[in-house]
Amino acid sequence: MKKLLSALVVTVFTSPVHPVFAEDVEALHWWTSGGEAAAIAVLKDDVKKKGYGWKDVPVAGGGGDAALTALKARVTAGNPPTASQLSVMGVRAWAEEGLLGDLTPLAEAEGWSKVLLKPVLAGISYDGKVVAVPFNLHRSNWMWMNAAVFAKYDLAPPKTWDEFYAVGDKLKAAGIIPLALGGEPWQETILFEDAVLSAGGADLYHKALLDLDPAALTSDEMVKAFDTLRKVIQYVDPNYPGRAWNLGTAMVLKGEAGMQLMGDWAKGEIVAAKLVPGKDILCTPAPGNAGTYTFHFDAFGMFPTSGAKAEAQKALATSIMDPSFQETFNLAKGSIPARTDVKPDKFDVCAQQAMKDIKQAEADDALVGSVQGGAAQPPAVQGAIQDVVARFFSSDQSSKDAAKALADAIADAK
Ligand code: GAL
Repeated sequence: MKKLLSALVVTVFTSPVHPVFAEDVEALHWWTSGGEAAAIAVLKDDVKKKGYGWKDVPVAGGGGDAALTALKARVTAGNPPTASQLSVMGVRAWAEEGLLGDLTPLAEAEGWSKVLLKPVLAGISYDGKVVAVPFNLHRSNWMWMNAAVFAKYDLAPPKTWDEFYAVGDKLKAAGIIPLALGGEPWQETILFEDAVLSAGGADLYHKALLDLDPAALTSDEMVKAFDTLRKVIQYVDPNYPGRAWNLGTAMVLKGEAGMQLMGDWAKGEIVAAKLVPGKDILCTPAPGNAGTYTFHFDAFGMFPTSGAKAEAQKALATSIMDPSFQETFNLAKGSIPARTDVKPDKFDVCAQQAMKDIKQAEADDALVGSVQGGAAQPPAVQGAIQDVVARFFSSDQSSKDAAKALADAIADAK
């Protein structure tokens, strides 16, 4: 004991002087890749500058499944963090349970409703109250390509799946992996969304994946979407099962793979690697997806608390909604700001295209919530869709059977 005490004394007197923080902000999130960590560091710095401590609770695992399990355990144990990253449907699910704090007075005082797109405002609201703070808008139907590889083999970014197969064949012949995919249900679901949009446009996506209409789910167009997946999988390397999304992105950055179909968090990795999006790594909507836009956003839900802790929460929310924070954070994250009043000037060409495309897609009714990103369906239905897609990828199930399995699984989960 004596030894321990003297060790403590030594530590206390020799460690560098730390500022005394008024209150700690404990934030649970799944931002652990290079680009994601750079983005959350912007928030940590902001919060610290305001005089609060930052307790980071990162839970690795793209898409956030592991983080949500950790969050549930904390809340069940009566020990919620100050704030947690949540998807759009995550916000709704936690709000339905009455577990999220009310941010309405702050949102009104700061005029959030004037600067957020309609789907974002809807996504952070529940029962007339604002219950979460949005960081960004992610687009998931992007394709990323290694520019040097494309130039070397004289390839143009494919606009259709047929063009994609032709590019893929040439890359294969050159000994390059055409498509960097990670065989995880959420990553495969991104491809599925792309295939649905290309097979039947926003109309099919609306009917099948938003309205869950059984006729659309088993339609010929849906069968065609599964046919596309069956073909696309031929352009993936055998090591794809379980590969993390950022390792897939790294393969494209290194030129080991030519293309990746992934949301714009991949751009965070490009920027973190000091490469230029739109120049070193090209961006284009997924084949057949031009004019459509699959979106979701990241938000922090706050758990009710009081006193100094509540003040710290408010300060955190104010930081996240600050226009200059939204600019710096999103430059690192790859997404575009949730606020519509942040100037596009500092953003790369891909983000600038996203800012234009999202407006056009909204006007054309082709802006759709991503299933994978938790912006389309509650967790049970989202899980059912992801399971069917994953099973299709890992078996030789026919497209017709998969479409039927999709309709059945959704009917069970509803
Ligand atoms: C998404 C999240 C993004 C990104 C991605 C990969 O669910 O919205 O911010 O982190 O997962 O982890």
